[in-house]
Amino acid sequence: MEKHLKVSAIKDGTVIDHIPTKALFKVIKILKLEECSQMVTFGNNLDSKAMGTKAIIKIANRFFADEEVNKIALVAPHAKLNTIRDYEVIEKRVVETPSEIRGIVKCFNPSCITNAENIPTRFDVLSDKPIAMKCFYCEKITNENEMAIF
Ligand code: CTP
Ligand code: ZN
Repeated sequence: MEKHLKVSAIKDGTVIDHIPTKALFKVIKILKLEECSQMVTFGNNLDSKAMGTKAIIKIANRFFADEEVNKIALVAPHAKLNTIRDYEVIEKRVVETPSEIRGIVKCFNPSCITNAENIPTRFDVLSDKPIAMKCFYCEKITNENEMAIF
């Protein structure tokens, strides 16, 4: 039995668990946590029974709406959201890939208007595991392995 948590428990807020290690900083970016003024703590390359290694992020005093947090499904499809109130886990949620993505991801097509002009990207998600997204503007498909986050 471990004596200490690797990342300290929080009193109130959100714990995002089971993030793939490669996705940690992408999740931070997607949720704009660099702009968050609350206490944000995270750990990477932590041992995980299910995943081998994983990352975890703890955000004090922040509670996310589904549509805000579902965007992270693009990079962390098995992430689990734990809502913490007074040190207790009061809710667990899984993330769901949205059917439409605006911003976040670049269009793979170099000739796409979104890569030439200051137009926010927009995609229809065709499949979620693995991710395939169709650009609203050029209709080219961006796949998971080509997916670049802004
Ligand atoms: N946690 C926390 N602060 C608290 C309570 C929980 O940071 N006050 C964290 C735990 O460290 C854990 C996550 O929230 O990473 C979920 O807590 P819990 O449900 O108790 O852990 P598990 O049963 O291991 O979660 P699961 O099996 O659902 O992944
Ligand atoms: Zn495009």
